[in-house]
Amino acid sequence: MDHPLEDFARRLPKAELHLHIEGSLEPEMLISLARRHGVALRFASVEAVREAYRFHDLQSFLDIYYEGAAVLRSREDFRELTMAYLGRARADGVVHAEIFFDPQTHTARGVGFADVVEGIHAALSEGEARLGISSRLIMCFLRHLSEADAFATLEQALPHRALIAGVGLDSSEQGNPPAKFARVFARAGELGFRLVAHAGEEGPPQFIRDALDILKVERIDHGVRCEGDPALLERLARDAVPLTVCPLSNVRLKVFETMRDHNLKRLLDRGLCVTVNSDDPAYFGGYVLENYLAVATALALDANDLRRLAANSIKASFLDAAARMRWLAAIAAVAVES
Ligand code: HPA
Ligand code: ZN
Repeated sequence: MDHPLEDFARRLPKAELHLHIEGSLEPEMLISLARRHGVALRFASVEAVREAYRFHDLQSFLDIYYEGAAVLRSREDFRELTMAYLGRARADGVVHAEIFFDPQTHTARGVGFADVVEGIHAALSEGEARLGISSRLIMCFLRHLSEADAFATLEQALPHRALIAGVGLDSSEQGNPPAKFARVFARAGELGFRLVAHAGEEGPPQFIRDALDILKVERIDHGVRCEGDPALLERLARDAVPLTVCPLSNVRLKVFETMRDHNLKRLLDRGLCVTVNSDDPAYFGGYVLENYLAVATALALDANDLRRLAANSIKASFLDAAARMRWLAAIAAVAVES
């Protein structure tokens, strides 16, 4: 990877706002955890695992992603997984991470909710102390499961309320509109959780509208399909609704055929609060810096565009106003030449 702005992009302080911790499970760790727990895998080697990562849409990815997550069993597994992510994020210049986790993927297999959340949290505390990365945790509901299952999950989260900043919505978009979770999000909002949702990745622009109007979310995860609805585009720009865009994910899952077809630069130029994120980096071929550089290369982004993307990530974060101001000043002070 040799982009002339690589060093500049790395030095820009960045927040990552769309990262599924289960999606940071690298093939090497997948195989070593399978051995640790005596889980039979249908993959014989790291190469065979990578070979299986050829997706043709969101569902074909999710099938493999849930299969991989089955090796995560103990509190220590979740701690190690999260620590490995934080090390990579730090190397990319990430100063703040808002991390999704999918409790239902684990509790359905008999893993304790507390082991998941406390394992992740142990690493986040260590990451703050040792690497200087601040963080928040966002619990996602799996939208292919029922409303009742989501309510039960919200209930299980309550003893751990202090460790969880927000709730989100992920998994298969087709056939699972935001309205299915209207009552769960209303309750989560009453409980003081910050609200976000995946919408407009594969689903129609109407799902983005519904996430805003029915679920009352403050950020849209993905949201790239907003271009099909000009009035919605206008609204997203006017209200500065952040979109957590994941370029390498979008190309791997064929939301865009190639990176040159990606609409990130158009959305940025249209004034939307676009951010760049890695989604599931172990599956999609790159962490956050690789996502910045992939769009910089394919869409001819300049230093100002990269600075704007980094600033958007801080503005769109759940950091308090004083911390946001500090990081925005730091971003403005980064020189193109070191
Ligand atoms: N979309 C929906 N569900 C997901 C994703 C995604 O990009 N990544 C992990 N779960
Ligand atoms: Zn995602």
